[in-house]
Amino acid sequence: MDSDNKKQIINEIEKWKKENDFVILAHYYVDGDVQAIADYVGDSFYLAKIATKVEQENILFAGVSFMGESAKLLNPKKHVYMADNTADCPMAHMVDIDKILEVKEKYDDVAVVCYVNSTAEIKSVSDVCVTSSNATKVVKNIKEKNIFFIPDNNLGRYTAKQVPEKNFIFHDGFCHVHKSIDRELVKQAREVNPDALILAHPECTEDVLELADYIGSTSQIIDFATASDAKKFIICTEMGIFYELGQKNPDKKFYSVGHRQFCPNMKKITLEKVLDVIKNPKDEVILSDEIMKTANKPLEMMLKLAE
Ligand code: 13P
Ligand code: SF4
Repeated sequence: MDSDNKKQIINEIEKWKKENDFVILAHYYVDGDVQAIADYVGDSFYLAKIATKVEQENILFAGVSFMGESAKLLNPKKHVYMADNTADCPMAHMVDIDKILEVKEKYDDVAVVCYVNSTAEIKSVSDVCVTSSNATKVVKNIKEKNIFFIPDNNLGRYTAKQVPEKNFIFHDGFCHVHKSIDRELVKQAREVNPDALILAHPECTEDVLELADYIGSTSQIIDFATASDAKKFIICTEMGIFYELGQKNPDKKFYSVGHRQFCPNMKKITLEKVLDVIKNPKDEVILSDEIMKTANKPLEMMLKLAE
């Protein structure tokens, strides 16, 4: 897209946002051009919280399905629209209800702790949600001894290390983007830049996390790099984060680890699609009455326990 065309689309987005009373929320993994026009950009926890505070009647979500569903569950009266309703997180589908019921049957004193990267249906049978920025705090505040952590195995194992007093039962879900970040490539990146700090998302595999100088959610990685005196960083998460890292730290250098740090679903979101939806609202997030009544509870519990 040439720059005149881009400017025109951005102007139109501004116009239709006001006209149709929209606020735009975007995740750090979407394209930088989309982050630049969003009203709020953040990690999953921030976006879930801010969705409860916005005044506009309509929310346009530039992210994947589970994020739009969470915004709807927390704000039943608002209309939530996806910029692209095919943008979905594969990890969100990696656990099924039967497995959850089986574990609940087998263990007494168990809490089903559900990473927000899961469908609304899965949330409806869970006790509490977590995000990568609050999992440790939330799990510490849970009264049950046994924790069935779904669906992400890597975040579950990382959290278990921070909360050794709990007994964790893990599931085998994963994020294909973070799983593809290879320990050997991280080591090679450090050999090329020995003075660079390694910052990793807890969805990375354990062998990558062992090399990290700092582990955190997307927002936490950005905050850490911004506050740090270091000048170089090797970033082990999805590449969309480089936009905000660069905006906040023009004097620092950020390196990726190979070319696979790319979430194809997040990258489906474009300026054209954002404009299309806010001009002629479509792809509204609609959940059944039953799901609306049940799946909001673990999200609200998360907001309470993460305070
Ligand atoms: P956070 O922004 O919460 O770190 O989440 C990462 C992620 O994979 C979202 O899809
Ligand atoms: Fe899902 Fe991974 Fe993409 Fe996040 S980066 S939306 S966890 S596939």
